[in-house]
Amino acid sequence: MNAVFKTFSPENLQIPDWVVHKKLIDWVASIAQLTEPDAVYWCDGSQEEYERFCTQLVEAGTFKRLNPAKRANSFLACSDPTDVARVEDRTFICSDSKEEAGPTNNWIAPDQMRKTLNPLFTGCMRGRTLYVVPFSMGPLGSPIAHIGIELTDSAYVVVNMRIMTRMGKEVFKVLGTDGEFVPCVHSVGAPLQTGQKDVAWPCNPTKYIVHFPQTREIWSYGSGYGGNALLGKKCFALRIASTMGRDQGWLAEHMLILGVTNPQGQKFHVAAAFPSACGKTNFAMLIPPADMQGWKITTIGDDIAWIKPGADGRLYAINPEAGYFGVAPGTNQKTNFNCIASLKENVIFTNVALTDDGDVWWEGLSQAPAHCIDWQGKDWTPEIAKQTGAKAAHPNARFTVSATQNPVLDPQWDNPSGVAIDAFIFGGRRSTTVPLVTEARNWVEGVYMAATMGSETTAAAAGQQGLVRRDPFAMLPFCGYNMSDYFEHWLNLGSRLEKTGAKLPKIFCVNWFRKDQNGHFVWPGFGENMRVLEWILQRVENKSQGVEHVFGTSPRYEDLHWGNTSITPEQFALVTSMDPLAWQEELALHNTLFEQLHHRLPKSLIDAKTALEKRVSAWRQTQ
Ligand code: GTP
Ligand code: SPV
Ligand code: MN
Repeated sequence: MNAVFKTFSPENLQIPDWVVHKKLIDWVASIAQLTEPDAVYWCDGSQEEYERFCTQLVEAGTFKRLNPAKRANSFLACSDPTDVARVEDRTFICSDSKEEAGPTNNWIAPDQMRKTLNPLFTGCMRGRTLYVVPFSMGPLGSPIAHIGIELTDSAYVVVNMRIMTRMGKEVFKVLGTDGEFVPCVHSVGAPLQTGQKDVAWPCNPTKYIVHFPQTREIWSYGSGYGGNALLGKKCFALRIASTMGRDQGWLAEHMLILGVTNPQGQKFHVAAAFPSACGKTNFAMLIPPADMQGWKITTIGDDIAWIKPGADGRLYAINPEAGYFGVAPGTNQKTNFNCIASLKENVIFTNVALTDDGDVWWEGLSQAPAHCIDWQGKDWTPEIAKQTGAKAAHPNARFTVSATQNPVLDPQWDNPSGVAIDAFIFGGRRSTTVPLVTEARNWVEGVYMAATMGSETTAAAAGQQGLVRRDPFAMLPFCGYNMSDYFEHWLNLGSRLEKTGAKLPKIFCVNWFRKDQNGHFVWPGFGENMRVLEWILQRVENKSQGVEHVFGTSPRYEDLHWGNTSITPEQFALVTSMDPLAWQEELALHNTLFEQLHHRLPKSLIDAKTALEKRVSAWRQTQ
């Protein structure tokens, strides 16, 4: 470890000889000067370094090493009970004007925010080490990749970043003496007095997740969890990248990317936006049901897509990440076999339960163990759960694992050219109203569908769960600029590509989450979603039928492949049913969103709404 010193200057930062970027060095010195860590450590990204930090985290009590016979090279971290998810109400987009951030983002003027952050960050790393984490979003050195440097006082963040991004000293080589990078400053906000013992999960009740889009900076304070702290993910690859995409003509989206090969060997690529904890990881690794074994799904990404128009007028998508930070609860051999297979070894689990034989467990994994230690370190038994409702794993418990452990990783997953997208799918979690699958008639109506998408809130964000809210493009918490401008950007891209004569991806809306009167999911979902995907791909090729209704085109029962499924026509009828009264109420919610966004809302979307309203009221009159 580096020596303890109080003043930080480029001369005493112990800079390795592979760092030759003066601006970067000056910036690290200035942040060290501000935050006053005991030491500065430059990460090289080696396996040896990863293992050393994991061992340190075990010694610090942050990690428990799992039983190597059960789960080799794997660890469990349990967070502070107040630091378990993204904090949307503490997330800020500090663009120059409020209008630029738009009505869906929290905005504070950049100067004022800097005045707030400065005292918080002053001395905030005392007693800790400042780690310099160099990372690339996208394949190292490729023209589409972007580099970030995260300065953090959390070793937990360092080891997670090593899995989630391309992290290490190669990044400094790519940067050279003057390459561009996004500066990311992260502190758990828990300085230590001399001699003060650290806690297993340091954090601060005061939290700020701050973005300065104009200067492309990220400052995060007070949380060590997920998207709040692994700054390459939501902060950079979505919020900052979306503003870069707006300026440069591309898209940064909250989308999985999958490859799908049909029994004839023809391969398609699909990008799908579902809100947090609504099934992206599952869909990206889907295994077709037994009667559709000729189909094969391969994963390119499970959370984020960067999408750029190619010279041929098609849209090419890459996954900027290198790992998965996925939801554990509900994941099992049946719902996501490939995911379970990915989790055999080399995994960091956060907030799942510890079994008596040193392995992990979570709700929905398997039959509950007779006893385990829950995510808060308490004894847990099925009896206790019955009496108190206590969960063994937090509902937003997650695993961090390298993409290369996924048995169905697509061979093109890190191809810098990306894959050409054939269809976009948008899907929310809706127990009522929205049918199983609907194809938009055209690009504008597809953008309208995505823009007005609603979804029930989940444990991925702090706050009440299960409330229907509008989550345009599944980007409500992640769009780094004015949502109306973002819609306009999508519309412009579509009309620009249409002019090239290229085939635009078709746009679909799905809903796997319709419930019956007893509150049970009606559609079995998971592998069975392949039937819907098949119909989507046939529509892309103009090969299958459907019926047009007020919202778009949906399949009839006979339009889907059923093989030997147990899904009944009655179940299908329920998940595709549409009620005019419910749709009138739904339109009122579209209205509320449009009123909120009215200031810069594209006219074509207002027209799309007016036309939909007319269709719905004509339909009501026929009932
Ligand atoms: P983030 O990582 O938060 O962005 O989420 P994600 O979209 O990748 O979520 P993930 O795939 O991990 O989904 C989490 C939850 O959705 C789990 O509780 C799953 O059981 C549930 N889920 C996924 N697919 C389906 C489905 O087809 N039907 C039903 N009913 N639930 C599903
Ligand atoms: C999400 O909430 O959409 C996630 C998890 O993917 S986190 O990285 O914590 O944002
Ligand atoms: Mn996500």
